Amino acid sequence: MSTLWHGRFEGGPAEELMAFTVSLPFDRRLAVDDIAGSRAHVRGLCRAGILTEAERDAVLTALDTVEAELASGSFTFLDSDEDIHTAVERRVTDLAGAAGAKLHTGRSRNDQVATDLRLFTRRELRAIADRILGLQQVLLERAREVGDAHLPGYTHLQRAQPVLLAHHLLAHGWALARDLDRLDGTIARLDVSPLGAGALAGSSLPLDPAAVAADLGFASVFDNSLDAVSDRDFVAEALFDLALIGVHLSRLAEEIILWSTDEFGFLRLDDAYSTGSSMLPQKKNPDIAELTRGKTGRLIGNLTGLLAMLKGLPLAYNRDLQEDKEPLFDSLDTVALALAAMTGLLASSTFRLDAMAAAADAETSAATDLAEHLVATGVPFRDAHAIVGALVRRSLDEGIALRDLVAASPEFADGAVALLDRGVSVTRRTTPGGAGPAAVAPQLAAFAAAVAARAAGE
Ligand code: ARG
Repeated sequence: MSTLWHGRFEGGPAEELMAFTVSLPFDRRLAVDDIAGSRAHVRGLCRAGILTEAERDAVLTALDTVEAELASGSFTFLDSDEDIHTAVERRVTDLAGAAGAKLHTGRSRNDQVATDLRLFTRRELRAIADRILGLQQVLLERAREVGDAHLPGYTHLQRAQPVLLAHHLLAHGWALARDLDRLDGTIARLDVSPLGAGALAGSSLPLDPAAVAADLGFASVFDNSLDAVSDRDFVAEALFDLALIGVHLSRLAEEIILWSTDEFGFLRLDDAYSTGSSMLPQKKNPDIAELTRGKTGRLIGNLTGLLAMLKGLPLAYNRDLQEDKEPLFDSLDTVALALAAMTGLLASSTFRLDAMAAAADAETSAATDLAEHLVATGVPFRDAHAIVGALVRRSLDEGIALRDLVAASPEFADGAVALLDRGVSVTRRTTPGGAGPAAVAPQLAAFAAAVAARAAGE
């Protein structure tokens, strides 16, 4: 078996070495980026006078062929191909002969793999951002559709105060807006070309890394060759962003699971987005939401695994860094699928608005309104809290309706009882950013504007 580095070695590599160290089974996903990097590199070598124009063109033609072979599945990998980089270079040399053998001039797999992975991550994170926007659009549509419908807002999973359903849906929408913002920041920071750093120290050849960076569409070029080949901050950031997207989806998923139970009864899942039980004929299960919640554990694991892998590495490249790819690929795939499934789930679910309203309009949900009513008449809030708390306790202990107790209590002025009428409490959340109709209207407009700006590419 002959590897690209066999010149230094007497014998071929052990079978166990190859079995343990190859990355081709997973890094072939970087093929298009590897070819893009090689095209830019070979053009740079030509500008530097290291390759003639004829040699450059021969290599570019060979790269086109390799790209077509990989795309069609006709590319033949050999046992000696350690990774996608060596496989592509070997085939280019088969096809372009001596010109192909010049492709790796002034380049190392260390700057090559860092370049490939940045190109790949930039593209994939943009695709994730598009999927997040799709979910935001569904949240927005559903928020519009449900108008002023309300449900209980919860703290400690105990009913606290009524909130508009639109407000609740938009709360998830804003979390996703921060995710988009974070992805933008991650993409901006990773948009730096490492190509030209060589193995670790640059080159004696007259290369121009900035020109190659521009050719690849990178926003800038590395400042330090050691940092360029050993920095995987961008992978860590991407994994954090993806893990947090997972956490956000998982929290939404948890609510969908709760809401779809008979106990809550707030939501009916569409048949196409739920699963049955192999034994229990009556079951309709929220598996998409449960797997979103469950797979988020892996997303967190991928992040912590990568950080643990990085923490002890001396500069510059170490083979440990090859372990950056599988967690990244896994997290990207997991989040892409979860976003698509959760978007469909949310778009197709039926909200049971009557059940939500009935749960929200329990008299005790208006307890804070009663206290604030007393505050408006000059009672200190702490005293008002105690008065209403005592009434609620009596209502529960003695089985007397809260409204009857309020009506009989001299502390309350006219209008207090009406605060307990159905649908009233939620209208009283009027402060900016609050949960009532008057405050949600401008919030919804602001969210719609943010989504529209994003969709327009602003
Ligand atoms: N497959 C390797 C990786 O993913 C490519 C770089 C190999 N470099 C080296 N010096 N062995 O990191």
